[in-house]
Amino acid sequence: MSRALPEWLKTAVFYEIYPQSFYDSNGDGIGDFQGIIEKLDYIRSLGCNALWINPCFDSPFKDAGYDVRDYKKVAARYGTNEDLYRLFDEAHARGIRVLLDLVPGHTSEEHAWFQESGKAEPNEYSGRYIWTDYWIRGIAGYPYIGGECERNGVYMLNFFKCQPALNYGFLNPTENWQDGMEDEGPLATREAIKDIMRFWLSHGCDGFRVDMAASLVKNDDEAKSGTCKVWRDLLTVLEDYPEAAMVAEWNDQPRAICSAGFDMDFYLDWPGNGYNSLMRDYESRQDGEDHSYFRKDGRGDIGRFLADYLPKYEAARGKGYVSMLTCNHDTPRPSYKLDTRELKLAYAFLLTMPGVPFIYYGDEIGMRYLAELPTKEGGYTRTGSRTPMQWENSRNLGFSEGLPMDLYLSVDAAEDAPTVEAQEQDPESLLNLVRRANALRAQEEDLQADAPFEVLYDEDGGRPFVYRRGQIVIAVNPDGKEASVPLAKLAEKLGTADAFEASRILLQIGEGGVEDGQLKAGAQSFTVYRM
Ligand code: NOJ
Repeated sequence: MSRALPEWLKTAVFYEIYPQSFYDSNGDGIGDFQGIIEKLDYIRSLGCNALWINPCFDSPFKDAGYDVRDYKKVAARYGTNEDLYRLFDEAHARGIRVLLDLVPGHTSEEHAWFQESGKAEPNEYSGRYIWTDYWIRGIAGYPYIGGECERNGVYMLNFFKCQPALNYGFLNPTENWQDGMEDEGPLATREAIKDIMRFWLSHGCDGFRVDMAASLVKNDDEAKSGTCKVWRDLLTVLEDYPEAAMVAEWNDQPRAICSAGFDMDFYLDWPGNGYNSLMRDYESRQDGEDHSYFRKDGRGDIGRFLADYLPKYEAARGKGYVSMLTCNHDTPRPSYKLDTRELKLAYAFLLTMPGVPFIYYGDEIGMRYLAELPTKEGGYTRTGSRTPMQWENSRNLGFSEGLPMDLYLSVDAAEDAPTVEAQEQDPESLLNLVRRANALRAQEEDLQADAPFEVLYDEDGGRPFVYRRGQIVIAVNPDGKEASVPLAKLAEKLGTADAFEASRILLQIGEGGVEDGQLKAGAQSFTVYRM
C-alpha cells in the first residue's frame, strides 16, 4: 500500500539553496548553515515554507558535493552537524520544512566504502559497487574505470569519473560478475541508504530531494521496474516519518510518483523536454534561437508545453505532485533569455499551477546567469547559475564580509546587478510579485497543489492562454499585443456565459478585464479572476 501524501505539501512552496553561495556568516568567503539561519525570515517573507539544500556533506567537492565522502557528516565549510540540527530547529520554529539532498546512486571515490571495495582482499564492501571480475574486462553500455585500485576488475561510474556507481544489482544479470537485485551486495547497499535516511530524519530533517533517482538498477527495463521496486523498499523508512516528503530528480512523473512512490517529481527542463518551451527553449534548439512561450516576440506556443505536461499531470493526479521550478543549480537562470516583465508572467504562471513549485535562490530577484565564469567544483556551464546571492548594494553585494578574492565565486559585477534590498523598496519589483503570488496561493485553496486544473482556451499559441483552478480563472498573454477571447468560447467550458459577471480580480500584471463580450488580455498581462 502506498503511503498518504503529507498534508503540508498542499500549501508548500520550496526554495532551493546552493549553500556555498547563499550567505556567508563568518567572512570566510563561502556560505554556511548559520548564514541560512540568519536568512530564514527573508525566505518566509517570500511566502516559501520549505527548503531544499544541495548536498552539504563531507566531500572533495569535485561535483559541488554530489560526490559524498561521508553521508552522516556535514562539510566543515558549512559548520557542524549540530549547526545543521539547529538549522532544522530554527526553520521549524518559523514553519519551514527542510529537505536535504540524498545521493543514492554514487559516492565519491574517496568514500571509505569505495576505498574498501577496491581492495584485493574480499571484505564487507566488496559488493557495494559494481565491479567486473578481471582488470581489463569492461562494462558494455556504461562508463567504467580500470587501473586505479588493487582489485582485479574495473568499476562502473554513475556520472563523473569521481563518482563510482553504488551496486543495486542488474534487473537481469547476464555476466557472472553482475549481481541480481536481491543479491547480498545490492541488499546491503539498500540497507546502508535506509540507515542514512533514518539518521537525518531522526535528527529533524523533513525528507529528501533525491539525486538521479532513476539511476539505481542497471540494465533496467523501460518501465524502470527494477529501480521502482528498490524505491518502494527504500521508502518504507518513511513509515516511521509520515510527515516526511520525497522529491525525485527523475523527470518522469508516471514512474517516479505512480510506480516508485515519490510524493513529487521535478518537471525538468533538460533539452528536448516540453518545459523548455516556457522559459528556456533555446537549449533544445541547434541554432540557439529562443521560442520560449513567455517571450513577448510571440514565437512560442503554449501547445508544446501542454502536450508534454498534461499527460504527466493526469497520470500523477491524486497520487503525487508535478514540481515545476524557476530553474536549478544545473540550468541557466531564466533571466538569461527573459526580461523582468517576461519573468513576472512566467513566475505568476508557475506559482498558480498545480503541484508543488520550487524557486531557485536568486531567481526571485532575477539574478543573472553569468555564462562567462570559469568552471568551479565540476560546475562547467552550470557555474554561472551558482554565484553568490545578491542581498544589498554593499561589499560583495552583502553575501560575505570576506575579501572579494576569497569568495567561493565572484559576485555579479554589473552596475545594475539586482539586489533584495533594492527590490524590497520597489512595489513593482519581481521580488514583490513573487511575494504577492505566494501570498495568494496561501490564501486561495483553489491555487494549491491538489486543486484541479483545466485548460479553457489555448488557441493562437496561447495568446491568451486561459486556465481554470477550481473557482479561479487565469488569463495570461505573453504577447506584445493585446489579445482577447469571446466569452462565448469560454462559456462552453464554464457552463455559463455570464460567469465573469460577478468576478473579482485577485492579482494582475498589465491590463485585463471583461468588455463587450470579450475577455481582454492586454500586452504581456496576467490576470487572476475569482468567479
Ligand atoms: C544531478 C545534480 O543535480 C547535479 O548537480 C549532479 O552533478 C549530478 N546529478 C550527479 O550527482
